[in-house]
Amino acid sequence: MLGDVRAATLITGASSGIGEELAYRFAQNRDPLVLVALPPDAAALQRVGAKCRELGAAEVHCIEADLSRADSIDAIERELTALGLYPRILVNNAGFGVMTPFASGSEEQQIKSILVNCVALTALSRRFLPGMIARKNGGILNTASTGGMVPGPGMAIYFATKAFVISLTEALEHELRGTGVSVTALCPGPTVTAFLERSGMTNSQMFVSMKAMTASEVAEIGYRAFQRRKTVQIAGVRNWFAMLGLRLMPRRMRLNTIWKLHQPTTAG
Ligand SMILES: NC(=O)c1ccc[n+]([C@@H]2O[C@H](COP(=O)([O-])OP(=O)(O)OC[C@H]3O[C@@H](n4cnc5c(N)ncnc54)[C@H](OP(=O)(O)O)[C@@H]3O)[C@@H](O)[C@H]2O)c1
Repeated sequence: MLGDVRAATLITGASSGIGEELAYRFAQNRDPLVLVALPPDAAALQRVGAKCRELGAAEVHCIEADLSRADSIDAIERELTALGLYPRILVNNAGFGVMTPFASGSEEQQIKSILVNCVALTALSRRFLPGMIARKNGGILNTASTGGMVPGPGMAIYFATKAFVISLTEALEHELRGTGVSVTALCPGPTVTAFLERSGMTNSQMFVSMKAMTASEVAEIGYRAFQRRKTVQIAGVRNWFAMLGLRLMPRRMRLNTIWKLHQPTTAG
Protein backbone atom coordinates (compact mmCIF):
# COMPACT_ATOMS: atom_id res chain seq x y z
CA MET A 1 0.00 0.00 0.00
CA LEU A 2 2.79 2.44 0.97
CA GLY A 3 4.54 1.76 -2.35
CA ASP A 4 1.45 2.75 -4.37
CA VAL A 5 1.36 6.33 -3.15
CA ARG A 6 3.71 9.21 -3.88
CA ALA A 7 5.18 11.81 -1.54
CA ALA A 8 3.75 15.33 -1.80
CA THR A 9 4.07 18.74 -0.13
CA LEU A 10 0.74 19.99 1.24
CA ILE A 11 0.55 23.78 1.86
CA THR A 12 -2.46 25.48 3.45
CA GLY A 13 -3.17 29.17 2.91
CA ALA A 14 -1.23 29.03 -0.35
CA SER A 15 -3.40 31.51 -2.28
CA SER A 16 -1.60 34.65 -1.07
CA GLY A 17 1.06 36.21 1.14
CA ILE A 18 3.57 34.04 3.00
CA GLY A 19 1.87 30.76 1.91
CA GLU A 20 2.09 31.77 -1.76
CA GLU A 21 5.81 32.55 -1.37
CA LEU A 22 6.39 29.28 0.51
CA ALA A 23 4.73 27.44 -2.39
CA TYR A 24 7.28 29.00 -4.78
CA ARG A 25 10.13 27.79 -2.52
CA PHE A 26 8.76 24.23 -2.22
CA ALA A 27 8.10 24.18 -6.00
CA GLN A 28 11.88 23.71 -6.40
CA ASN A 29 11.61 20.25 -4.79
CA ARG A 30 10.67 17.21 -6.85
CA ASP A 31 7.56 16.32 -4.80
CA PRO A 32 4.12 17.13 -6.24
CA LEU A 33 2.58 20.21 -4.62
CA VAL A 34 -0.92 20.27 -3.15
CA LEU A 35 -2.13 23.82 -2.44
CA VAL A 36 -5.10 24.51 -0.16
CA ALA A 37 -7.14 27.73 0.32
CA LEU A 38 -10.69 28.95 0.77
CA PRO A 39 -13.17 28.33 -2.08
CA PRO A 40 -13.67 32.06 -2.95
CA ASP A 41 -9.96 32.29 -3.78
CA ALA A 42 -9.94 29.43 -6.29
CA ALA A 43 -8.70 31.76 -9.07
CA ALA A 44 -5.81 33.01 -6.89
CA LEU A 45 -4.90 29.43 -6.04
CA GLN A 46 -4.88 28.47 -9.75
CA ARG A 47 -2.60 31.47 -10.46
CA VAL A 48 -0.15 30.39 -7.74
CA GLY A 49 -0.31 26.80 -9.08
CA ALA A 50 0.57 27.99 -12.60
CA LYS A 51 3.61 29.93 -11.30
CA CYS A 52 4.73 26.87 -9.29
CA ARG A 53 4.70 24.85 -12.53
CA GLU A 54 6.79 27.59 -14.21
CA LEU A 55 9.25 27.37 -11.30
CA GLY A 56 9.73 23.65 -11.90
CA ALA A 57 7.04 21.81 -9.94
CA ALA A 58 6.23 18.74 -12.03
CA GLU A 59 2.74 18.36 -10.57
CA VAL A 60 0.52 20.91 -8.80
CA HIS A 61 -2.96 20.24 -7.40
CA CYS A 62 -5.29 22.84 -5.88
CA ILE A 63 -7.81 21.91 -3.19
CA GLU A 64 -10.50 24.35 -2.06
CA ALA A 65 -11.30 23.83 1.60
CA ASP A 66 -12.59 25.96 4.45
CA LEU A 67 -10.31 24.92 7.32
CA SER A 68 -12.72 26.34 9.89
CA ARG A 69 -15.04 23.42 9.02
CA ALA A 70 -14.46 20.14 10.86
CA ASP A 71 -15.15 18.10 7.69
CA SER A 72 -12.37 19.88 5.73
CA ILE A 73 -9.64 17.55 7.05
CA ASP A 74 -11.46 14.41 5.81
CA ALA A 75 -12.12 16.15 2.48
CA ILE A 76 -8.40 17.00 2.04
CA GLU A 77 -7.37 13.44 2.92
CA ARG A 78 -9.94 12.02 0.47
CA GLU A 79 -8.61 14.24 -2.34
CA LEU A 80 -5.01 13.24 -1.58
CA THR A 81 -5.95 9.55 -1.60
CA ALA A 82 -7.78 9.98 -4.92
CA LEU A 83 -4.62 11.58 -6.34
CA GLY A 84 -2.45 8.72 -4.99
CA LEU A 85 -0.50 11.14 -2.78
CA TYR A 86 0.51 11.40 0.88
CA PRO A 87 2.05 14.49 2.54
CA ARG A 88 5.76 13.98 3.16
CA ILE A 89 5.84 17.68 4.03
CA LEU A 90 2.94 19.53 5.65
CA VAL A 91 3.00 23.32 5.72
CA ASN A 92 0.35 24.60 8.14
CA ASN A 93 0.33 28.22 7.06
CA ALA A 94 -3.35 29.26 6.79
CA GLY A 95 -4.37 31.66 9.51
CA PHE A 96 -5.95 34.96 10.37
CA GLY A 97 -6.69 37.25 13.29
CA VAL A 98 -8.70 40.34 14.08
CA MET A 99 -7.38 43.32 16.02
CA THR A 100 -10.16 44.19 18.49
CA PRO A 101 -10.48 44.05 22.27
CA PHE A 102 -11.68 40.58 23.32
CA ALA A 103 -15.10 41.55 24.70
CA SER A 104 -16.16 43.68 21.73
CA GLY A 105 -14.77 41.59 18.85
CA SER A 106 -16.89 39.37 16.61
CA GLU A 107 -17.41 36.12 18.51
CA GLU A 108 -17.87 34.27 15.22
CA GLN A 109 -14.52 35.52 13.84
CA GLN A 110 -12.73 34.84 17.12
CA ILE A 111 -13.92 31.22 17.24
CA LYS A 112 -13.19 30.80 13.52
CA SER A 113 -9.62 31.99 14.03
CA ILE A 114 -9.11 29.35 16.73
CA LEU A 115 -10.56 26.71 14.38
CA VAL A 116 -8.22 27.67 11.51
CA ASN A 117 -5.06 28.66 13.44
CA CYS A 118 -5.17 25.85 16.05
CA VAL A 119 -7.77 23.14 15.39
CA ALA A 120 -7.15 22.58 11.67
CA LEU A 121 -3.35 22.79 12.18
CA THR A 122 -3.59 20.18 14.95
CA ALA A 123 -5.95 17.90 13.02
CA LEU A 124 -3.84 17.95 9.85
CA SER A 125 -0.66 17.28 11.86
CA ARG A 126 -2.32 14.45 13.83
CA ARG A 127 -3.73 12.94 10.61
CA PHE A 128 -0.48 12.92 8.61
CA LEU A 129 2.31 12.68 11.22
CA PRO A 130 1.93 8.90 11.84
CA GLY A 131 2.60 8.25 8.11
CA MET A 132 5.73 10.42 8.23
CA ILE A 133 6.96 8.56 11.34
CA ALA A 134 6.25 5.16 9.75
CA ARG A 135 8.27 6.20 6.70
CA LYS A 136 10.99 7.81 8.89
CA ASN A 137 10.86 10.77 6.54
CA GLY A 138 9.05 14.08 6.45
CA GLY A 139 8.36 17.26 8.32
CA ILE A 140 5.90 19.92 9.35
CA LEU A 141 6.37 23.69 8.93
CA ASN A 142 3.92 25.72 11.02
CA THR A 143 3.50 29.45 10.41
CA ALA A 144 3.19 30.87 13.93
CA SER A 145 4.00 34.52 14.77
CA THR A 146 6.22 36.58 17.06
CA GLY A 147 2.83 37.38 18.62
CA GLY A 148 2.86 33.81 19.95
CA MET A 149 5.80 34.68 22.22
CA VAL A 150 3.94 37.25 24.34
CA PRO A 151 0.34 37.92 25.42
CA GLY A 152 -1.45 40.31 23.03
CA PRO A 153 -3.90 42.75 24.62
CA GLY A 154 -5.91 44.28 21.76
CA MET A 155 -5.48 41.07 19.73
CA ALA A 156 -5.68 38.53 22.54
CA ILE A 157 -7.13 35.52 20.71
CA TYR A 158 -4.75 35.78 17.76
CA PHE A 159 -1.67 35.95 20.02
CA ALA A 160 -3.02 33.03 22.08
CA THR A 161 -3.57 30.89 18.96
CA LYS A 162 0.02 31.48 17.91
CA ALA A 163 1.31 30.68 21.42
CA PHE A 164 -0.51 27.35 20.99
CA VAL A 165 1.29 26.77 17.67
CA ILE A 166 4.74 27.48 19.17
CA SER A 167 4.06 25.33 22.24
CA LEU A 168 2.78 22.42 20.14
CA THR A 169 5.77 22.69 17.78
CA GLU A 170 8.32 22.65 20.61
CA ALA A 171 6.67 19.67 22.32
CA LEU A 172 6.37 17.72 19.06
CA GLU A 173 10.01 18.40 18.22
CA HIS A 174 10.96 16.69 21.46
CA GLU A 175 8.64 13.72 20.87
CA LEU A 176 9.92 13.33 17.29
CA ARG A 177 13.65 13.15 18.14
CA GLY A 178 15.24 10.17 16.38
CA THR A 179 12.25 9.52 14.12
CA GLY A 180 13.62 11.27 11.03
CA VAL A 181 10.69 13.70 11.11
CA SER A 182 11.14 17.40 11.91
CA VAL A 183 8.82 20.19 12.99
CA THR A 184 9.47 23.93 12.67
CA ALA A 185 7.57 27.03 13.79
CA LEU A 186 8.18 30.12 11.66
CA CYS A 187 7.50 33.30 13.63
CA PRO A 188 7.03 36.33 11.37
CA GLY A 189 6.60 39.84 12.74
CA PRO A 190 4.60 42.42 10.76
CA THR A 191 4.69 41.34 7.11
CA VAL A 192 3.16 43.11 4.10
CA THR A 193 0.32 40.75 3.07
CA ALA A 194 -3.48 40.78 2.89
CA PHE A 195 -3.37 39.77 6.58
CA LEU A 196 -2.66 43.36 7.68
CA GLU A 197 -5.76 44.72 5.91
CA ARG A 198 -7.94 41.74 6.93
CA SER A 199 -6.90 42.00 10.58
CA GLY A 200 -7.41 45.78 10.69
CA MET A 201 -3.73 46.40 11.54
CA THR A 202 -2.75 48.81 8.74
CA ASN A 203 -3.63 51.86 10.86
CA SER A 204 -2.12 50.48 14.07
CA GLN A 205 0.86 51.95 15.93
CA MET A 206 2.56 48.56 15.44
CA PHE A 207 2.36 48.66 11.65
CA VAL A 208 3.38 52.32 11.45
CA SER A 209 6.25 52.09 13.97
CA MET A 210 7.77 48.74 12.92
CA LYS A 211 9.22 48.17 9.46
CA ALA A 212 7.20 45.32 7.93
CA MET A 213 9.05 42.61 6.00
CA THR A 214 7.95 41.27 2.61
CA ALA A 215 6.24 37.89 2.31
CA SER A 216 9.10 36.75 0.09
CA GLU A 217 11.75 37.56 2.75
CA VAL A 218 9.72 35.78 5.45
CA ALA A 219 9.07 32.69 3.31
CA GLU A 220 12.77 32.38 2.41
CA ILE A 221 13.71 32.46 6.12
CA GLY A 222 11.01 29.89 6.94
CA TYR A 223 11.99 27.59 4.09
CA ARG A 224 15.65 27.66 5.10
CA ALA A 225 14.81 27.07 8.78
CA PHE A 226 12.69 24.06 7.78
CA GLN A 227 15.54 22.65 5.66
CA ARG A 228 17.91 23.10 8.63
CA ARG A 229 15.32 21.40 10.93
CA LYS A 230 15.29 24.43 13.24
CA THR A 231 12.48 24.26 15.81
CA VAL A 232 11.54 27.94 16.28
CA GLN A 233 12.64 30.60 13.80
CA ILE A 234 11.91 34.32 14.23
CA ALA A 235 11.79 36.04 10.83
CA GLY A 236 14.49 38.72 10.67
CA VAL A 237 17.02 40.27 13.05
CA ARG A 238 14.82 43.32 13.73
CA ASN A 239 11.98 41.09 14.98
CA TRP A 240 14.45 39.04 17.02
CA PHE A 241 15.63 42.17 18.87
CA ALA A 242 12.05 43.48 19.23
CA MET A 243 11.04 40.20 20.93
CA LEU A 244 14.14 40.23 23.13
CA GLY A 245 13.29 43.77 24.25
CA LEU A 246 9.67 42.88 25.00
CA ARG A 247 10.60 39.72 26.92
CA LEU A 248 13.17 41.56 29.06
CA MET A 249 10.56 44.13 30.16
CA PRO A 250 8.68 43.74 33.45
CA ARG A 251 5.31 42.04 32.78
CA ARG A 252 3.12 45.14 33.26
CA MET A 253 5.34 47.29 31.02
CA ARG A 254 5.33 44.55 28.35
CA LEU A 255 1.52 44.40 28.34
CA ASN A 256 1.24 48.22 28.22
CA THR A 257 3.66 48.40 25.30
CA ILE A 258 1.80 45.76 23.28
CA TRP A 259 -1.58 47.37 24.06
CA LYS A 260 -0.24 50.74 22.79
CA LEU A 261 1.14 49.12 19.62
CA HIS A 262 -2.36 47.79 18.92
CA GLN A 263 -4.01 51.22 19.08
CA PRO A 264 -4.88 53.22 15.93
CA THR A 265 -2.31 55.89 15.03
CA THR A 266 -5.06 58.55 15.25
CA ALA A 267 -5.48 57.73 18.97
CA GLY A 268 -2.18 59.53 19.57
N1 LIG B 1 1.22 39.22 7.72
C1 LIG B 1 1.66 39.29 8.98
O1 LIG B 1 1.98 40.39 9.50
C2 LIG B 1 1.82 38.02 9.79
C3 LIG B 1 2.59 38.07 10.95
C4 LIG B 1 2.75 36.91 11.72
C5 LIG B 1 2.16 35.73 11.30
N2 LIG B 1 1.40 35.69 10.16
C6 LIG B 1 0.79 34.40 9.79
O2 LIG B 1 1.19 34.05 8.48
C7 LIG B 1 0.23 33.14 7.94
C8 LIG B 1 -0.08 33.59 6.52
O3 LIG B 1 -0.71 34.86 6.56
P1 LIG B 1 -0.37 36.00 5.51
O4 LIG B 1 0.25 37.11 6.24
O5 LIG B 1 0.32 35.44 4.33
O6 LIG B 1 -1.86 36.51 5.15
P2 LIG B 1 -2.82 36.19 3.93
O7 LIG B 1 -2.22 36.69 2.67
O8 LIG B 1 -4.15 36.72 4.35
O9 LIG B 1 -2.85 34.61 3.86
C9 LIG B 1 -3.65 33.83 4.70
C10 LIG B 1 -3.93 32.53 4.00
O10 LIG B 1 -4.73 31.70 4.88
C11 LIG B 1 -5.85 31.27 4.15
N3 LIG B 1 -7.02 31.07 5.00
C12 LIG B 1 -7.57 31.94 5.88
N4 LIG B 1 -8.68 31.42 6.42
C13 LIG B 1 -8.83 30.18 5.86
C14 LIG B 1 -9.79 29.14 6.00
N5 LIG B 1 -10.86 29.26 6.80
N6 LIG B 1 -9.64 28.00 5.26
C15 LIG B 1 -8.60 27.88 4.41
N7 LIG B 1 -7.66 28.83 4.23
C16 LIG B 1 -7.78 29.96 4.95
C17 LIG B 1 -6.12 32.39 3.16
O11 LIG B 1 -6.94 31.92 2.11
P3 LIG B 1 -7.86 32.96 1.30
O12 LIG B 1 -6.92 33.95 0.68
O13 LIG B 1 -8.56 32.08 0.36
O14 LIG B 1 -8.75 33.61 2.34
C18 LIG B 1 -4.71 32.74 2.71
O15 LIG B 1 -4.26 31.83 1.74
C19 LIG B 1 -0.98 33.17 8.88
O16 LIG B 1 -0.96 32.02 9.68
C20 LIG B 1 -0.74 34.41 9.72
O17 LIG B 1 -1.33 34.29 11.00
C21 LIG B 1 1.24 36.81 9.40
